[in-house]
Amino acid sequence: MPKLLSILINNVTYQVAPGTTVAAAMLLAQQPSRISVDGDPRVALCGMGICFECRAVVNGTSHRRTCQILCEDNMTVETNS
Ligand code: FES
Repeated sequence: MPKLLSILINNVTYQVAPGTTVAAAMLLAQQPSRISVDGDPRVALCGMGICFECRAVVNGTSHRRTCQILCEDNMTVETNS
């Protein structure tokens, strides 16, 4: 069985399998990428790098398209910023 990766999403640690995208980890953690001006949670939509709905801060870098990034051990993700 492959070793699970630890990823910190909004200061909570989650365990994910290698090969999991950050967007999928955010969905598993029930953490939307942002809240719209109408108060609706926004999450990954296209899953292929086009819509930009999945953007979050990854390892301190803003506006990363999380559907295009695989989780790495000890990665940090901040949403709603
Ligand atoms: S889900 Fe559309 S760019 Fe990531």
